Amino acid sequence: MQVISVINQKGGVGKTTSVMNLGAALARAGHQVLLMDLDPQAHLSIAFNRMPDPGDPSVYSLLSGQHQIVDVAQPTNLEDLFIAPTNLDLTGAEQEFASEIGRETLLRDALERLAASDGAPDVVLLDCPPTLGLLSLNALCASDAVIIPVQAEFFALQGMAQLLDVLERVQRRLNPRLQLLGILVGMYSKQRNLSREVVDELRGHFGEVVFSTLIRVNVRLAEAPSHGMTIFEYDAQSAGAADFAAVAAELSERLGLQAPLDQPTEPESAAEPKAEEPAAQPEAAAPEASAEPPVEATAEQA
Ligand SMILES: Nc1ncnc2c1ncn2[C@@H]1O[C@H](COP(=O)(O)OP(=O)(O)O)[C@@H](O)[C@H]1O
Ligand SMILES: [Mg+2]
Repeated sequence: MQVISVINQKGGVGKTTSVMNLGAALARAGHQVLLMDLDPQAHLSIAFNRMPDPGDPSVYSLLSGQHQIVDVAQPTNLEDLFIAPTNLDLTGAEQEFASEIGRETLLRDALERLAASDGAPDVVLLDCPPTLGLLSLNALCASDAVIIPVQAEFFALQGMAQLLDVLERVQRRLNPRLQLLGILVGMYSKQRNLSREVVDELRGHFGEVVFSTLIRVNVRLAEAPSHGMTIFEYDAQSAGAADFAAVAAELSERLGLQAPLDQPTEPESAAEPKAEEPAAQPEAAAPEASAEPPVEATAEQA
């Protein structure tokens, strides 16, 4: 079981979108995936139509020790994809747990019990809140790895120094195994110079840590959650679906996930380039065009 925090203290950078669709892509590839909603705004839980009623098993009751993950996790409409949902009960949690001994490791303890059980998933993706408070700290203490989504927008790097500083301190004091697995660039539009500049700047700073697949601006990604669907159910032919499938392939490789043996070949998989194959350079086309292969940050593009 590998636990990954999807974290950035900025709101609206694509954390929830990434957790939802990377989780779905990994589940479609045959991995057992648990998504966990650590944001009191509960966007992930609402997107899956799984928000618990107040007092029902949730991430809050998990952290407060009333329930185990097996009580809290629910199936989604996708096979192999589960969600530990949250609701407004989590809103006061940071203050409530602030004086508790071992407050940073409440989630780690719960996930360690899960890892030791028969029902342990292959991957757990944690959807972090847009703050660097106790909930995010719990996520980082419980994680093997971190993915940082950023937008290819002005201010993309704002707050990054602070986030990296927190990662470094957590590594040093609380969780030495924590590693920065990848930076995921979203809201990419190749028509915009600014998008390309942001990618160049990120590559200059972080090199190979930046995923080679860029998530393009794609309105289908924004529409899917309001229909209670991941991008793969909502529009499997969209640019968003192609991009998240390609990132999931890169992610699997970085995590060293073994492809399950009994995996049937799916029709859409022909459109999903393998991580090591350079994607063809798309010709000038509308940003919403769906037939294009995923964009990779190659030298020609710069
Ligand atoms: N690649 C994309 N193209 C278009 N809209 C996107 C894309 N990625 C995210 N969005 C939209 O942007 C908004 C913020 O994304 P979200 O994943 O909720 O960010 P966060 O969880 O970091 O706050 C949402 O409305 C989402 O649907
Ligand atoms: Mg979110």
